[in-house]
Amino acid sequence: MTTISVRAPAKINLHLGVGPVREDGFHPLATVYQAIGMYDDVSVSEAADWSLAVRAHERIDVAEVPTDASNVALRAGRLLAAHHDLDRAASIVIEKAIPVAGGLAGGSADAAATLLALDRLWDLQTSDDDLLALAAELGSDVPFALVGGTAVGTGRGEVVSRVADRGRWWWVVVESDIGLSTPAVYREYDRMAVAADPAVPEALLAALADGDRRALAASVSNDLAAPALALRPDLAQVLAAGAAAGALTGLISGSGPTCLFLCEDQAHAAAVRMTLAEEHERVFAAAAPVAGAHVVEYA
Ligand code: C5P
Repeated sequence: MTTISVRAPAKINLHLGVGPVREDGFHPLATVYQAIGMYDDVSVSEAADWSLAVRAHERIDVAEVPTDASNVALRAGRLLAAHHDLDRAASIVIEKAIPVAGGLAGGSADAAATLLALDRLWDLQTSDDDLLALAAELGSDVPFALVGGTAVGTGRGEVVSRVADRGRWWWVVVESDIGLSTPAVYREYDRMAVAADPAVPEALLAALADGDRRALAASVSNDLAAPALALRPDLAQVLAAGAAAGALTGLISGSGPTCLFLCEDQAHAAAVRMTLAEEHERVFAAAAPVAGAHVVEYA
């Protein structure tokens, strides 16, 4: 029996500009995504009925991942089959290393990986445009998980275009024990913010094109940081600890609660990680940018 495994990365937002809520309940975004070296692997094989199993590193609370039809990987499989008018099913196994409800788009990575894995398993040769359109139906961050690298996201985040990124960036990632609900953070944003039309700062795009760490550190920002901090005031201490540990800058990832710290290079990231690991349990160093969803095994 053939099994295909696809690896898909976590994302961070180097800039997350959020506009006033739209009529459909989503917010217009002007964001800069970057794929970082933290991955979920999704394996698919032919089966008579759909099934889903989630295996995870012990640090990850799989209990929070739904395994019923609401799981976005299962929805991805069914959507791809329907798109091709196929009455086929598959067994899906997710190996999770991206934290759940962490602001790192782990569920989106699983959905993107499932689309690609089933496309290859069933030899459907879905066009890139169609894969991106299906991804957008599944969630705002799913197209970026296919594309990877560094990209601007507009619309509700689903319209993705790659941007020049000459840097080799090192991030220290501090995970939280408890996740944050993305809709709850957006609701808090609506309550507290005076939203303007979002735009991506030119200085950030220039810093990426130049691979300039200091300039990048000076130009990252996140409109969801204030509402995430309102819901989780403890994150302020994590950000302060990262600054004290010598990071170039600190940032909340997406809707949080994961915190990110930009470092000079791999050695600096290792040092910042060691310092933060004295107080925090789940601290990792990750390189960026990395590739989007890609096949890693064909067995
Ligand atoms: O698109 P996705 O399923 O990832 O979105 C999850 C939730 O996050 C939405 O239901 C919505 O509450 C919020 N969201 C938003 N504006 C966006 C993206 C997500 O309000 N651009």
